[in-house]
This record gives sequence, structure tokens and C-alpha cells, in this order.
Amino acid sequence: MSYAVTGKFEIAADSVNPRKVPFRTTRNGRKIPVIGLGTFGSDRFSAEEISDAVIGAAEVGYRHFDCASVYGNEKQIGAAFKVILDGGITREELHITSKVWNDMHHDVVSSCKQSLHDLGLDYLDLYLVHWPFPNFHPPGCDVDSRSPDAKPYIHKEFMKTWAQMEELVTLGLVKEIGTSNVTIPKLNLIMRDAIIKPAVNEMELHPHFQQQELFNFVLSKNIVPIGFSPIGSPKRPDRDKTETDTVDIEDPVIIAPAERLGVHPAVVCVKWAAQRGQIAIPFSIHRKNYLSNLKSVTENPLTEEEMTGIAGVDKNCRLIKGQVFLWKENQTWEDLWDLSGKITAP
Ligand SMILES: NC(=O)c1ccc[n+]([C@@H]2O[C@H](COP(=O)([O-])OP(=O)(O)OC[C@H]3O[C@@H](n4cnc5c(N)ncnc54)[C@H](OP(=O)(O)O)[C@@H]3O)[C@@H](O)[C@H]2O)c1
Repeated sequence: MSYAVTGKFEIAADSVNPRKVPFRTTRNGRKIPVIGLGTFGSDRFSAEEISDAVIGAAEVGYRHFDCASVYGNEKQIGAAFKVILDGGITREELHITSKVWNDMHHDVVSSCKQSLHDLGLDYLDLYLVHWPFPNFHPPGCDVDSRSPDAKPYIHKEFMKTWAQMEELVTLGLVKEIGTSNVTIPKLNLIMRDAIIKPAVNEMELHPHFQQQELFNFVLSKNIVPIGFSPIGSPKRPDRDKTETDTVDIEDPVIIAPAERLGVHPAVVCVKWAAQRGQIAIPFSIHRKNYLSNLKSVTENPLTEEEMTGIAGVDKNCRLIKGQVFLWKENQTWEDLWDLSGKITAP
């Protein structure tokens, strides 16, 4: 029975032993479980529902949580962490990520301290620059919304933000730092100029958007890839959908192994992610779903043929396009992703 019912943190009878969950090791020798719980409820779930799911997820064996200040729920998730820690799980057993939002690139230390305060923690295992663009957008805004003072990626400016990320490590407030939503040309410059190199890169990764080139690049630089929207974010808000978007969990190549194993196609996406070599951070507040996602990385792997089949279904279908970060008129979202191989000119 869950905490919500008993008011007591209890390891669930059907839990997965966290020691059985595989992990990836960063350049600094730190271990990150290959599956973490996403905590972005979008506009569908309240902060309290997500906080309950964090407790429920810990009761079934999750030890890795992907948070961010912009998700607007760190205070409530902090209350969940207190329940988990009071319930006997040690801080060292948990791997907790947070991220600095775009309007705080100039004051990363304050932003991190706020997240630590809200989450009720002394340190974060991982802190990410959420997006490489310093533009504020209110949560839930429409994709056509543009910030009047929107700026492009300016490497010199980004490195000022990165220097503050490095300071967080020096201060002992975070164990490791990383990037998110960056491209190969941006990462090349960041790797060249960073004193503390990114330990991870969080990027959109699912069967229909495998980003093989960036994935290979990240691995070649000893950066651990963390894949967000690993199931293809099937329930993202309509404002984030376009007519050409494809649906991973409706793909026959994903459905076939799901039928063989008697699981939901979402579970096949998580298995594929873990077996391919990235960390997956699927979101669900529903016990049945988050438990089956966790179990998926410890039992019944996909066969080599199934892995090869899924490698062949990439549709280059980016779902989180980032339109709101465009900085001038008449641009298309592709400009954010440096498709020419060079950073798009300001
Ligand atoms: N760094 C970034 O910029 C960035 C961007 C986007 C997301 N993220 C992170 O990535 C996390 C996950 O991304 P996401 O929420 O966009 O997409 P996702 O994890 O691909 O998809 C989540 C949806 O899949 C469904 N689902 C999950 N497990 C399932 C299962 N076993 N069976 C059936 N359905 C299942 C859930 O439906 P139900 O709700 O019905 O359970 C949920 O709504 C976020 O929460 C956030 O932490 C980071």
C-alpha cells in the first residue's frame, strides 16, 4: 500500500531491488541508474500528484529523479524527498537532478540554492543548464509566443553561465554538471572551453528520434546521454503537437515485442533506451506505469533482432521543437538545432 494510503513510507512488496537496476558511470566515476522518474507534469497533473508519485516510485524502487525549477513543483517534491529520507532511504542512494531555467543564466548560484531549498537538500547529484538560450517563457505559453528580448546562442555568454555551473561544483552544492538541448557545434565549443566538462547531456531520445549522430558524439566525448520523452511524450499538450509528428507507441516494430512480452509498447521504448546505452527518464504518475517502466530495465530484454528492428524506425521526428526560443522574425524551429552543422547565425 502506498504512502498516500498509509501515511508511512514502505518498500512495496512488488518493488524492484534498486541494486538490480543497471547504471551508467560518468567521467567522474559517479553512477546514475539507467531509469529515472520524470517530474514534468505539464498542464495535466498537479504538483501534489507528482509529489505522491515520487514517493510511490521510491517505494517501488526508483532512486533517480529528474527535476527542474521550471516544472513548478520542487517544493512539493522536496516534501516527498523528506518522506523518503525519513523512511530510511539514505541521501547517497538517491540520484537527484535539477536544472537552471533560462531566465536565471545570469545568476545560476541563486537558482541552484533556491532549488536546493525547495527540494530540501544539501546538494544535487546533477545540475543542468536546461536550454542553451537565455530566454524566459511563462510555463504553459503557446508555441507562437515569443520573448521580446529573445537572444540566440552566444557562446561567450553561455560560458559565463557555465563558469557559474563550475562554481557550484567548487562550492559543493552539486556533484556534477551537464548540458541539455545542445547540438554538436555547441557542445564542441563547450568541450573546448569548459574547465569542468559536462558529465551528461540531456536530449530528446525515443525510437522515432534517435539522434544517432549526436548520440555517438556525446559517447565519444565521454558524456552520458540522458534521453527525455523516451516514450515519445504521447500525452504532451496539443499545443506541442504538429501534423507531421509520428507516434512511437503505435509503430508496429514497437508493438511486436510488446505483444511478445505482454507489456505496453511504452515499456518497449524504455527497454530499447536502456539497452541502447542511454538513461531514460519516463514520466507517469500512475503506479502501474512507473512500476512497469522500472521493471522493464531488469527483466526480459529485447532480442538483438528487435533492437536492430527498432534502430531502423528512426523518423527524425523531433517533438520538443522549442519554437518559443526563436529570437527573430521569419525563423523556423529548425534554426534552433544547427542543422547545417554550424551554430545558426545570430
Ligand atoms: N531537458 C528537457 O528539456 C526536457 C524536456 C522534456 C522532458 N524532460 C523530462 O523528461 C520526462 C519525460 O518526458 P515526457 O513526459 O515528455 O514524455 P514520456 O516520458 O515520453 O511520456 C510520458 C507519457 O507516457 C505515458 N506512459 C509512461 N509510462 C507508460 C507505461 N508503462 N504504459 C503506458 N503509458 C505510459 C504516460 O501516460 P500516463 O500519464 O497515462 O501514465 C505519460 O503521460 C519529463 O517528465 C521531464 O522530467 C526534459
